[in-house]
Amino acid sequence: MATHHSRPQFQRHFRRDDAHIPFTIDGTAYSGRRGDTVLVAIMSVTGQLRRSEFTSEPRAGFCLIGACQDCFVTLACGTRVRACTTPLEAHMAFTTRESGNE
Ligand code: FES
Repeated sequence: MATHHSRPQFQRHFRRDDAHIPFTIDGTAYSGRRGDTVLVAIMSVTGQLRRSEFTSEPRAGFCLIGACQDCFVTLACGTRVRACTTPLEAHMAFTTRESGNE
């Protein structure tokens, strides 16, 4: 069942003042924090990590420890990264438009 979230599911409770790390999702600019994983950065600014390739339902990862492969997201260059174990780097550009998924 799809659920609309009016605010991000991840709420930052500490490290609010660490350095900003800019990134984009489909060209929209966002900011993570130094030390964020890709999953934390995306989930801190959106209500979902990605959409299921099978049902289009929102996904937020599952194990969060690099074991289940439920959190792969795609960079604009086409490279897929495991969001829960990949450190956010400045100017990462993510896309939700995967080839063959439109
Ligand atoms: S959430 Fe399971 S591998 Fe990332």
